[in-house]
Amino acid sequence: MSKYHLRGEAKTLHDIVEAKGSRKLSVVTCYDSAFARLIDRTPIDMVLVGDSLGNVMMGYDDTVKVTLDDMIHHTACVSRVLQRPFLISDMPFFSYKVSTTQALESAARLVQEGGAQAVKLEGGREISESVQAITEAGIPVMGHLGLTPQSVHALGGYKVQGRGKQAESRMIEDAKALERAGAFAIVLELIPTELAEKVSSELTIPTIGIGAGPGCDGQVLVLQDLLGFDDSFCPKFLKKYAQIGEMTVAALCEFDKEVKDKSFPASEHGFSE
Ligand code: KIV
Repeated sequence: MSKYHLRGEAKTLHDIVEAKGSRKLSVVTCYDSAFARLIDRTPIDMVLVGDSLGNVMMGYDDTVKVTLDDMIHHTACVSRVLQRPFLISDMPFFSYKVSTTQALESAARLVQEGGAQAVKLEGGREISESVQAITEAGIPVMGHLGLTPQSVHALGGYKVQGRGKQAESRMIEDAKALERAGAFAIVLELIPTELAEKVSSELTIPTIGIGAGPGCDGQVLVLQDLLGFDDSFCPKFLKKYAQIGEMTVAALCEFDKEVKDKSFPASEHGFSE
């Protein structure tokens, strides 16, 4: 058995919330059961079935085309095998902004049909009523502030948010509104390091950063980004822990060569009568 074969107790909401101030939280995205099995062998705390699904797995150039049915399908692929990390699923574009009732119904489907343990919504005080209703219905909610990709057109592109005094205080107020509404954690995406530190210190719930510096209570990365699937994708905040894209291309070229020069399959790959 490899040294990377951990199996511990399943992470609970309580484990996540009480980590604040004592240890950092690690979060990765996942969209399928093959990677979910591998993540289960690591100490990663939380898995997010993000709507980055649209960019990473579905070939879209943004997340707004991802539907609730897409999210349920991929969340179920992960939840069927994932045993240890706490599993969160993104509520996709316009599955929660029409009304509190719509938000409750969408969240319930992600839990009941997808097997999610919690849901994530993008936005601040304008969604706090829905966050409160979902939380009171017994479904834990993670917030998401800063660069919120579902609003990419309104934000004018994928750029750093929360710069300037007014934007800073708006974000701090939004974070506090989400906490008051019952959110158990908040993702802070692409905001200045100092602002992320300030938000983190003013909340009693953990912040999970991506492009928000080291002052957050945890960090999240898109799995395929940290594994180095795409050589050409190198944003400043990303660290690549492997070069899986290059390894995959090299392996496929080797397979192609061996099929064509007839060195694969060799005799040991065949069956006797
Ligand atoms: O969809 C996603 O993957 C996300 C993370 C980057 C936080 O929202």
